[in-house]
This record gives sequence, C-alpha cells and structure tokens, in this order.
Amino acid sequence: MEQKKVRIGAVGISGRGSGMLELLLAVPGVVCPAVCDKYEDRALRGVEIVKESESYDGYEVNSYLDYNEMLEKEKLDALVVFTTWITHSKIAIAGMNAGLNVAMEVGGAASVEECWELVRTSERTGKFCMLLENCCYDRNEMAVFNMVKRGLFGEIIHCEGGYRHDLRDEIVLGRENRHGRLFNFQNRNGELYPTHQLGPISKVLGINRGNRYVSLVSVASKSKGLNEWIKNNKGEDYDLYGYDFACGDVVTTILKTAHGETVTLTHDCCLPRPYTRNYLVQGTRGIFSDIDDAASAVIEGVTESTHEWTKFSEIIEKYEHPLWGKYQKAGVKAGHGGMDYLVLSAFVEAAIDNVKPPIDVYDTATWMAITCLSEQSVAMGGLPVPVPDFTNGMWIDREPYRRGVYCLEEVCEDFFEEEK
Ligand SMILES: NC(=O)c1ccc[n+]([C@@H]2O[C@H](COP(=O)([O-])OP(=O)(O)OC[C@H]3O[C@@H](n4cnc5c(N)ncnc54)[C@H](O)[C@@H]3O)[C@@H](O)[C@H]2O)c1
Repeated sequence: MEQKKVRIGAVGISGRGSGMLELLLAVPGVVCPAVCDKYEDRALRGVEIVKESESYDGYEVNSYLDYNEMLEKEKLDALVVFTTWITHSKIAIAGMNAGLNVAMEVGGAASVEECWELVRTSERTGKFCMLLENCCYDRNEMAVFNMVKRGLFGEIIHCEGGYRHDLRDEIVLGRENRHGRLFNFQNRNGELYPTHQLGPISKVLGINRGNRYVSLVSVASKSKGLNEWIKNNKGEDYDLYGYDFACGDVVTTILKTAHGETVTLTHDCCLPRPYTRNYLVQGTRGIFSDIDDAASAVIEGVTESTHEWTKFSEIIEKYEHPLWGKYQKAGVKAGHGGMDYLVLSAFVEAAIDNVKPPIDVYDTATWMAITCLSEQSVAMGGLPVPVPDFTNGMWIDREPYRRGVYCLEEVCEDFFEEEK
C-alpha cells in the first residue's frame, strides 16, 4: 500500500525544535514544506534540516518569520509548535483556526482562559490539539501503565512525579542564548513545567475519562539557587547579580482527584542535582518508584518481599508494553531514550488520517492549566484552588477513545497481534 502523506508546518526551530524536526522527518509520510522562527537564522536552519533529511525528495521548502503568514500562504494539513511556553497556545489556536491539526511541545499555561480557548477552538474547528508529552511513551512509564491496567498495583491511591533538572545555566543565560525560560523564572512563581510526569500519571488515573482533578495546593520555597550560580559563574558585574527571581527553587503541588487519589508534583530546576522525574505509583497491592533513577517495585505476589525493593530492571521484560516490545525489535531511535520518536509517530498517525490523537485537547488543557492554577495557589500562601473541568461534564460519559498501538487509555494487545 502506498504511504499516505501529511504536510506539516513547523514553528520554533531552536534546540528542541531542531531535534524534533529531524525526528519528525524520520516518521514515514511526513512532508515539511514550511518552517518558521522569529529569528531568521533559525528559520533558515529549519529549511536545511528538512533538506538534509533522508526522506526529503526535492519538494519546495519555505521559511517564515511570521507564523500567520505561513498559515496563510502554505497548503498544510498539520502544524507542530516548538516555541516558548507563553506562545504555544496562541500559535496552536491560529493553527486550528486555519484548519490544521496541531501538536505542541510541553509547557504550562499562563491563564485558565488560554486553556478554554484551546478547547473551544478544537471543538469549533473539529481539529485536534495534542500536547507532545513524550514521557507518556517512555519505557518505564508504559510498562507501569501496562501493569496498572492488568491490576498489579490493585487500586491506585497516590502518584508522584516531578521535573527535577539542574537548568541553572540554561535559565540564567536566556538572553545570551535567545532561550525562553529566563523571563518565566524572573516573573512567575509556581509549578512552571508540570506535564512531564503529570501526563503519565493522568493516564494511569483515567483523568478526563471517568476521573478528574478537582483541586490543588501549591507551595514554593525561597529562591536562592540562580543567585548562587550567578555569583559563582558570572560575578558581581553581571546585571542579574543579586536579582530577585520570582520562582521558588522547589515548588511542591498536591492535586486531589474526584475519586480520591492524591498526586504530588515537584518543580526543581534551580539547584545542583542530577536529572530525575521521580515517578511513583502506589496502590493497594504494590508500588513503583523511580526516585532518583533507582527504578524499583514492590508487587504483592510478584516480588519477593513487600518490605524490600526489587529492581524494576528485573521485572520489566515480563510487563513490557507491547509498543516498546515492537519498538525494541525495530530499533529504538534517538531522542530522550526513544520516547520522542514514539510521541511524534502517535501524532503523525492521527494527523495522517485526521482522527483522534491519544492525547487530546482536554488532556492538553487540563495538564497545562496546572501551571497557572499553581501560581494562584502559591500567591495565596498555598490555598486550595479548584481545577476546571475542561470536558464540561463529559468526563463521566465520554465518547469512546480511538484504540490502536499508540492508545494511552488501554493496552490494545489485539493491534499488536494483527501485526505479528
Ligand atoms: N518534551 C521534552 O522533553 C522537551 C525538551 C526540551 C524542550 N522542550 C520544550 O520545547 C519548547 C522549546 O524548547 P527550546 O529549548 O528549544 O526553547 P527556546 O526558547 O530555545 O526556543 C523557542 C523558539 O521559538 C521561537 N519563537 C518564539 N516565539 C515565536 C513566534 N511567535 N513565532 C516564531 N517563533 C517563535 C524562538 O525564536 C525560539 O527559537 C519549550 O516549550 C520547551 O519546554 C521539551
């Protein structure tokens, strides 16, 4: 059968956008005739990336500095957004209004209204908006999801996760490197980057499909890490020396769901520490814990003792998600251990046939909203803040999801058997 094609425009060709564009072009069927960045050198680099890709067969590739002009002039089917946090939704909304299905990089929303606008635009245009939450497709996360669905953890009670990443240089040198994080840390105090672990956790808890987040509280520590880094690396003459950064070094958020589970999120990017997402899923029959990358589990009736950890590496093969089984056989592609290619493939699969994506606009809005809600809670000294129901009540009776290999609502074993 001839490979179906999808014409995708890409906006935001910095570090992340360049890497993602390269990977996107490796997904079968992708044609990228238009790239955009507000900086000309980056837009032109985007054209080079397309032309250097293996799948490139000589089609015309145009570069733009203005995404609205790109949307007006180009004949596209879909749009990918790799820009800064506060620009994602605006560009995604313009994309849907232009009749394109949209995927956008992760980040948090600046306002609840922004999230509603994403939802309403998607509902009105019939176009989807998928957050590219790659961590939903990481190997451990998918194996844990598979185990949850098989009932190995019993009833889920509590989950944890975080974005704990020493980004001090990337944040502070935002102006020198034309990078978007700095202004956020200067001006905003809250859980600025919630979705990496909230994505997988939300799929485990059935959020927006039978469950929802009802409220959260968020508390921020003081802010000292960036100042210390500036003192040691840039010195007293640097203009941000002694700057009063708004964002607390460690921000802790606790969410409560309609069915009584709790979720703790930690945002921690301004202190020296190794990267971790601290994933934890705990139920009545077991626990998975990846605190500081020592992935371990205890499962009643499976692991030796409930009082001692078993390394997850000893049991993962037994519970491998079939998507990862297939992926390992085919050859895992670069990009955060392989998950980037999977999330892009999931997007392309949906965009090619104009069908529902595995992460839809309700997931996108809910996960992104945690940022501005957390800012509100922090501003009020940790008071509880309600989480809007972006499904408008449908979470108790949704239309069925689309089953398939990239499905994040259930493990669709039959789709993998058909392929054998
Ligand atoms: N999923 C992941 O694992 C992962 C990893 C890294 C980064 N990210 C996310 O990817 C996004 C991009 O990250 P980055 O590190 O490349 O950021 P960056 O700030 O370096 O790049 C953003 C790019 O968007 C461009 N841009 C901003 N507004 C624009 C507009 N209106 N029109 C056109 N171009 C515009 C900027 O010029 C810049 O080149 C961020 O949301 C980041 O959080 C995700």
